[in-house]
Amino acid sequence: MREPADPGALLDWYDRHARAMPWRVGPATRRAGVRPDPYRIWLSEIMLQQTTVAAVRDYFVKFTTLWPRVTDLAAAEDAEVMAAWAGLGYYARARNLLKCARVVTSEHGGTFPADHATLLTLPGIGPYTAAAISAIAFDAPETVVDGNVERVMARLHDEHTPLPAAKPILTEMARSLTPQERPGDYAQAVMDLGATICTPRKPACGLCPWRPSCAAFVNGTATELPKKSPK
Ligand code: ADE
Repeated sequence: MREPADPGALLDWYDRHARAMPWRVGPATRRAGVRPDPYRIWLSEIMLQQTTVAAVRDYFVKFTTLWPRVTDLAAAEDAEVMAAWAGLGYYARARNLLKCARVVTSEHGGTFPADHATLLTLPGIGPYTAAAISAIAFDAPETVVDGNVERVMARLHDEHTPLPAAKPILTEMARSLTPQERPGDYAQAVMDLGATICTPRKPACGLCPWRPSCAAFVNGTATELPKKSPK
């Protein structure tokens, strides 16, 4: 009988292997009582939509140097922000970014709302981004599901239902593993595991903290998962 996946084992792995990112408050710093800045988490999550961590890094540093607070961004000229965004692509994100910064400034006193439902009312913030901000910035037990998390869940449970039909199944699997303790670190840990260990083509199962619980590892199916419906 396989052991059930233990969120604590993943958090222990994250404590040792968390990727450094300019917006991230690492686990040791977090433990020392430093909280992430919701503005920086929001900005990074908008930039990371359809874009890799490597591509986002320099843009994130540029934006937070030019506009260290959401109120600074709200006061910027549209053309200035669009010029700073040039090269990142998906320009609707930049237009919504400004709209959102202005709503947070005018209607929320320049502070990002902590409440998931209120986050969802903001321009450019959909269910994924609202969950990511709630979990990472406010340590709320919300479940963040991106492509990395879907792959980890499909393999852990050897789930062969093809995407997109598998989406609700994989989301429920991720939800049922989300711990009440450190949900923000947990969300980032699953994404890091998917990005660095549980990779699409050559997963490093020998280094995986969840290998003892992984059905796809036992069955030799990891690289086939997740299945995708033919387009
Ligand atoms: N992709 C999107 N948000 C991320 C995060 N906070 N950590 C790692 N990968 C991510």
